Amino acid sequence: MIQIVPSIFAADFMRLGEEIRSVEQAGAQMIHVDIMDGHFVPNFTMGTPITESIRRSAHVKLDHHLMIDDPDTYAPIFIKAGADSVSVHYEVCRNLDRTLHMIRDHGALAGVVINPATPVAVLTEVLGIVDYVLVMSVNPGYGGQKFIPRSLGKVRELVRLRSERGLNFAIEIDGGAGRENIAEIARAGVDWVVAGSSVFGTRDASEAFRELQHSARGALSIKV
Ligand code: DX5
Ligand code: ZN
Repeated sequence: MIQIVPSIFAADFMRLGEEIRSVEQAGAQMIHVDIMDGHFVPNFTMGTPITESIRRSAHVKLDHHLMIDDPDTYAPIFIKAGADSVSVHYEVCRNLDRTLHMIRDHGALAGVVINPATPVAVLTEVLGIVDYVLVMSVNPGYGGQKFIPRSLGKVRELVRLRSERGLNFAIEIDGGAGRENIAEIARAGVDWVVAGSSVFGTRDASEAFRELQHSARGALSIKV
């Protein structure tokens, strides 16, 4: 079933525990944690202390999106801190097959991410060894950006490849998802929809989460 995955990048860090609890109580099963190094993307976010603190007090799965130049060094460190799934960018991995196996060997789900300028075709050789593919629907680095509609074409292509090859990786989308496009995103075949500002940037994160999840699931039950 399609899931909304709130991104804490848009949360109020002074009230992080409360923010996470509010979406957890509304039914969130996963939280998206954006790790940025100021090199691969022009912004910084958080390090392992945040992952460790959330791990200690929350029950949700922690989905880590590494927007960093050196995922080989840091993926194991974030897994040890409590990451359940770790995605790495195709654009920085020189030995992608090895990196994905390494993440799985450390006990986490392994995901590969593609930027808006990167085509699905480059993933042909790794689709059989990933647990999920993350399609960026904005350029990574900032929250609150506008959704790039072409990303849905990539989602449809992944859905087709997955069924043709009998695979079962999940498809995640990240950036610019909200009330106005959630139905279209759901119908394209996305399994996990990351939502930052459309959840934590609102007056009531728990209500915003419920509404998005309801709309996403509703869009799939309507036969068109
Ligand atoms: C952007 C991050 C996203 C971000 C999404 O580089 O990878 O996860 O939190 O934020 P919204 O949903 O506001 O576009
Ligand atoms: Zn992200």
